[in-house]
Amino acid sequence: MDVKELLNKLSIEERISLLVGAGFSKIVPGAAGESRAVERLGIPSIVMSDGPAGVRIHPLRFGVKETFYATAFPNEILLSSTWNLDVVERVGKAIGEEAKEYGVDIMLSPGLNMHRIPLCGRNFEYFSEDPLLAGEMAAAYVRGVQSVGVGATLKHFVANDQETGRMYIDVVAPERALREIYLRAFEIAVEKSRPWAIMAAYNKLNGKYCTQNEWLLTKVLRDDWGFDGLVMTDWGAGDNPIEQIKAGVDIIMPGNDNIVKTLIEAYRKGELSEEIINKRVLKVLELVTKSLKFKGYKHSNKPNLDEHAKVAYEAAIEGFVLLKNNDVLPLPQDSKVAVFGKGSYLTARGGLGSGFTHPRYTISIVDGLKERGVKVDEKLEKMYRGLMLPFFELGEITSLFRRFRESALQSGDQGAIQWLLSDYVETMIEYFKIMNIQENIFDDTTLDEIARRNDVALITISRVSGEGFDRYPVKGDFYLRDDEYDLIQRVSKAFHKYGKKVIVLLNVPSPIEIASWRDLVDAIMVIWMPGQEAGRAVADVLLGKVSPSGKLPLTWPKDLYETPAMRSFPGEPRDDPKKVVYEEGIYVGYRYYDTFSVEPAYEFGYGLSYTKFDYKDLDVKVYDNTLVVSLKIRNVGKYVGKEVVQVYVRAPRGRIEKPFQELKGFYKTRALNPDEEENVKINIPLKYLASFDGSKWVVEKGVYEIRVGSSSRDIRLVKTVEIDKDYCYNTSWKQIQCS
Ligand code: BGC
Repeated sequence: MDVKELLNKLSIEERISLLVGAGFSKIVPGAAGESRAVERLGIPSIVMSDGPAGVRIHPLRFGVKETFYATAFPNEILLSSTWNLDVVERVGKAIGEEAKEYGVDIMLSPGLNMHRIPLCGRNFEYFSEDPLLAGEMAAAYVRGVQSVGVGATLKHFVANDQETGRMYIDVVAPERALREIYLRAFEIAVEKSRPWAIMAAYNKLNGKYCTQNEWLLTKVLRDDWGFDGLVMTDWGAGDNPIEQIKAGVDIIMPGNDNIVKTLIEAYRKGELSEEIINKRVLKVLELVTKSLKFKGYKHSNKPNLDEHAKVAYEAAIEGFVLLKNNDVLPLPQDSKVAVFGKGSYLTARGGLGSGFTHPRYTISIVDGLKERGVKVDEKLEKMYRGLMLPFFELGEITSLFRRFRESALQSGDQGAIQWLLSDYVETMIEYFKIMNIQENIFDDTTLDEIARRNDVALITISRVSGEGFDRYPVKGDFYLRDDEYDLIQRVSKAFHKYGKKVIVLLNVPSPIEIASWRDLVDAIMVIWMPGQEAGRAVADVLLGKVSPSGKLPLTWPKDLYETPAMRSFPGEPRDDPKKVVYEEGIYVGYRYYDTFSVEPAYEFGYGLSYTKFDYKDLDVKVYDNTLVVSLKIRNVGKYVGKEVVQVYVRAPRGRIEKPFQELKGFYKTRALNPDEEENVKINIPLKYLASFDGSKWVVEKGVYEIRVGSSSRDIRLVKTVEIDKDYCYNTSWKQIQCS
C-alpha cells in the first residue's frame, strides 16, 4: 500500500484527525485506546492495549456469554531475572498471539524505565537498573510480539523512573547519564527489534515535557537513532498538543475532539504547517497499513490460553532468584510443610494500574504445593483461611459481582457503568488482599505443635505496588511490619528447636529490607510477581524439579537510604515535588555500589543454584571491531542447572571518569547435566565500551579488564585486552575523528 497516495486522498481535516486518538477503545472493550478511522478510504481504527504482563482487556462483555480472559504472565522484573532472551521472546510471542486473537493491533509494552530507586511503584513493569540488560530484554519481548504481526510499544520515553509527580515532574539529568543509562536501554531496544511504536512519557525532561521535547523525540530518537516507527503520547500527557505534534509526536492519546479542533485551528492560523502534519500522518498511515486489522485479519477471540499458561509457567520458573540456601532446598517430595504468610494463600500475581491483568485463574503457592502432592499442614491452612476469610469473601464478591454485572448487562440495565467499574473494583480487591493482616497470631504452644508435626516451615512475605504511586519507606512496605518480623523470628525459633528449617519466599514487586532478618532463616527465594502460574512454578522449584537459575536484575540494597538516588527522591520540594535532580549521574545501581565500595545485601547479577558451575579457558580477542569472549562452563554439582554467564568490563583510567565496571554481555547456558560442559561465546561490539564525553562517544585507548563471572561480585575469570588507539563515534554511532 502506497501510504503517500493514501495521504493525498485525505482532506486536511481528515489528516489532522488521524493525529489524535479516538478515546478508550470501543472496538475491544477494556483496551486502552484506538486511533481514528477514515471509513471512506478504508482506514480502520487501530486498537491499543496494555501491557506488559499480558493483554489487558475486559474479560466479560455486554450481553455476551463468552469470556475474554488473557494470560497473566510474570512481570518484567521477573522476566529480566531469567536473563534468558529466548524465554522472554516466547512470552512476547504468546502475548502477541493473544493480542492478535482479541483484535488488538498494538501492545502498549514493554516498559523500559530504569530501576533507579527500589521504591518506584512501577518497577515490576520495568526490567533492570542496567541499560544493556533492560535493552536486550525489551528487544526480545518486542521481537516476540511483532513476530505475529502485532506492534509493540517501548514506554515510557524517558526517565519516568518514579510515580510521584509523574504527570508533571521535571527530571533534571545530565546528558551523559541520559545517553549512557536512561536513553541507552531504549536505544538498544530500537536497534535490535525495530519496535512499531514508542510512547513519550508524562514527565518533563530538563525543563520540557517529554511529549513536547523536540530534542528527545526528533533529535535523539529519529535523527540519532534512525527510529522509523510511530511516536505516541502517554495517556493525557503534556499540556500543549500543538507543541507535541511539532516536537515529534505522531498521535496524541487517548485523544478527544477538542484536541482535533485545537490542531485544526492551529493549522488555519499557520501555527502548524502542512509539512509537519503530513510527516506525522505518514507515520500513522504506515502503522495502520502494517496492522492485522488493515490486512483484514479476522480474529477468533479464542487465543490458546492453555498453551500460553505453559509459557507463563516456563518463564516464572526461570526467573526466581535464590538468595540464600543453607542445606534446605530442594525439599524432598514427601516433606511435611507448614505454610505461613498470607501471600502463600493469596499470592500476588502482578501489580496494579495499567499493568493489571484479567487471567482465568491464579494458582496460589499453597494450591501449587498441594497440586504437586506436597503434604501441607491442614490445620495451619485452616487457620490462615479463617484469618483471611473476609479476603476470600472479597474474592467471592468479585465473582458474584461479575455474575451480577453480566446479567445486568444482558438485560440492558444500567450495566455499562458496572462494567466500567469492574476493572476498578477488581483492582481494589487485589489491593485489599495484600493489605495488612496481623499474622503473628500463634501462641507458643500452637507454634511448637506445628513445628513438631512438620518437617519445614515456608513463610511468604507479599507486597503489591502499582501505577500512580510509589512504594513507601515504612514498615509494611519497604520494611517488614512488626508482626511479620515476629512471625519470622518465632517460627524460626520454634522450628530450629527441632533442627527443622525455615524458608522465606519474597512475593514482591521490587526489593524490601532483608538484612536485619535474613540470618534468622535458612533459605530465601525471591519469586517477584510470578503471574497466574505462581504456585505451580514455586512448588516445582522448591521440590527441585528445576534448579533456580534467576539472577538479580538490580542491586538489592542493605538499606533503602544506601541507594544513591534516595538522596534526591522524590524531588523538590519534598512535600510536593515538582523537580527531581538525578544528581548521582551515571552512578545508578551497581555502578554506584562497586565504584564507591558500598556493600549491598545482594549484588546485581546474584542468584544461587542447587548445582555448581566451573568457569575455565577464558579467551578474549579483538576481531573486526568486536570483543570476542569465549570460555567453558561445566556443571560440577549434583543437579541439572542453567548458569548465567556475565561479562563485566573495567575500563582503564583515562580522561573520562568511569564506573568501576559495567555489564557488557551475558549468556544463559542450556540446562546442563552434572559433568556436562558448554562452550560459551559472547560477542561485544567495541562501541559498547564507549563513554559519552558530552558531545560524542569515546572508547579510550588502554588496557581493559574483561571480568567474567556468576554475578557482578563473583568474578571467576579475568583477562586483559589492549585497545591501541581511541575510537570515537558521533551520536548516530558513525566513527569519527577523535580530535
Ligand atoms: C500509563 C501507560 C499506559 C496508558 C494506557 C498510562 O496511564 O502510564 O503505561 O499504557 O496509561 O493505559
